[in-house]
Amino acid sequence: MEKFIIKGGKRLKGEVTISGFKNAAVAILPATILAEEKTIIENLPQISDTRVLKEILTSLGAEVVNLGENEVQIDGEKIKECVADSELAKGLRASYYFLGAGLGRFKKAKVAYPGGCSIGSRPIDQHIKGFEALGAKVKIEHGMISVQARDLKGADIYMDVVSVGATINIMLAAVKAKGTTMIENAAKEPHVVDVASYLNCLGAKVKGAGTDTIKIEGVKKLGGCRHAIIPDQIEAGTYMVAAAATRGDVLVKNVIPKHMESITAKLKEMNVDIEENGDEIRVKTSRRAKGVDIKTLVYPGFPTDLQQPMSSLLAISEGTSSITENIFEGRFKHINELKRMGADIKVEGRVAFIQGVKKLSPAVVSASDLRAGAALVVAALATKGETEVQQIEHIKRGYDRIEEKLKGLGASIDTITE
Ligand code: EPZ
Repeated sequence: MEKFIIKGGKRLKGEVTISGFKNAAVAILPATILAEEKTIIENLPQISDTRVLKEILTSLGAEVVNLGENEVQIDGEKIKECVADSELAKGLRASYYFLGAGLGRFKKAKVAYPGGCSIGSRPIDQHIKGFEALGAKVKIEHGMISVQARDLKGADIYMDVVSVGATINIMLAAVKAKGTTMIENAAKEPHVVDVASYLNCLGAKVKGAGTDTIKIEGVKKLGGCRHAIIPDQIEAGTYMVAAAATRGDVLVKNVIPKHMESITAKLKEMNVDIEENGDEIRVKTSRRAKGVDIKTLVYPGFPTDLQQPMSSLLAISEGTSSITENIFEGRFKHINELKRMGADIKVEGRVAFIQGVKKLSPAVVSASDLRAGAALVVAALATKGETEVQQIEHIKRGYDRIEEKLKGLGASIDTITE
C-alpha cells in the first residue's frame, strides 16, 4: 500500500502544466479498436487507468507501441473479437467503452461488469437502452455484459438521464450502424466532444457533440488518425483549488479557459484572484477565501468531480457554505476524513453544510475514491504539520505525476510504500 506524507501550510507557488483529460483518454483508448488503420494518440496522461486500458488493448490483440511518455500508436487490425473479461477490466469503469467500440466494429462484445469509484449506484441502464435501440441484444450474466447484433441500424434515442458514459458508448456503437442515429438529451461535457472529434478524425460523421442533440450518420469504414487529447478540466480545477486553499500564486498552464468557466466563476465569488491569459490561468490569493454555495450539475454547470476538492477549500473558508451533489448519491465519503482534520461539516442527504474553520489539524486520513483522495491532498497542503493520506492508488488512477507536479509548486510531499 502506498501513502502520501504531506507537510502542509506552505503557499503553492510557480507553474503547473495540465496533462491530457483522463475522462477523454479512457474513452478514446477503447475507441481505437474502431480504427481499421494505425492511430496515434498524443497528450495521453500517464495514469494507472490509461496503463490498464493499454494492457487490455494488447490482450485483445492490438499492437500498442509507446512512442513517448504521452504518445501511443495503436494498431487494432489484428483484433478478432472484443472480450474484455479480465480482472483488469473489472477494476475500471471505463472498460464498459469496449462494449460500444466492440459492437461498432464486430457487432458483438463481452466485458466484465464495470467497477470504478464508489460514489453511488452507477447503473448502466441508459447504455443498454442505446445498444438495444440500435438493434443489439444485451445479456448480463456471471458478472459479464454481452452485447450482440445481427445488424446495427441507426435509431432515435432519447436519454432518460444525461449520462456522459452512455452518450459516448452509444456514439461508439452507432458510427458504423446503417443509417442515422440521433441522441437527444445527450451529455455535453468537453470529453464527449473530444471523443466525437477523434471519431470524425477516423472518418466518422458525428455532428452536434457538445450540444444536447448528437447526429451520427453511419459509415462503412473508419481509417486511422493522429489525435491529441484535450487538457484535463478536472486536474486543472484541482490545482486551482489547491492554489486558493494554500493562499498561493500558481500559473496553471495548458488549459482551455472555456472548460474552466464554472470553477473560475466560483473562485472569483470566493474573492480569489483569477487571471486568464490564452491557455493559462493564474490563481493568486493571500487572504482567506469567502464561503459560497455549490450545486453540482452537468456541463457547463459546476462539475461533480470537483465538489470533493472544493469541499476542502470551503472547510477553511470564511462563513458558511453548502455543497449540493445533484449527480451522484454517494459522493461525500471524504467528509468524515475531513472531519478527522477538524472540519465542521454536516451531511444531510445530498447536501453538505460547511461551517468554515480558521485551520484544520494534521491527521492520518484515507482516500475512498479518486476525487476524495484529491480533496484530502488539498486539505493536507493547506494544513500546517504532517498529514498522512493513505490508499493513494485511487489518486494515481487519475492525476498524472501529482507528486512531481506538487513538488514543482513547492509542496512537501513524499510517497511511502508500506
Ligand atoms: C463519468 O462517469 C466520469 N467517469 C465521472 O468521473 C464523472 O463524475 C461523471 O461522468 C459525470 O461527469 C468517466 O468518464 C470514466 P454518468 P459516468 O453516466 O459516465 C446516472 C472521475 O472522478 N446514470 O454521466 O459513469 C448516474 O448514476 C469520475 O473522474 C444512470 O442513471 O457518469 C449518475 O447519477 C468519477 N444510468 C448520472 O447518470 C446510466 O446508464 C451521471 O452519470 C448511466 C448513468
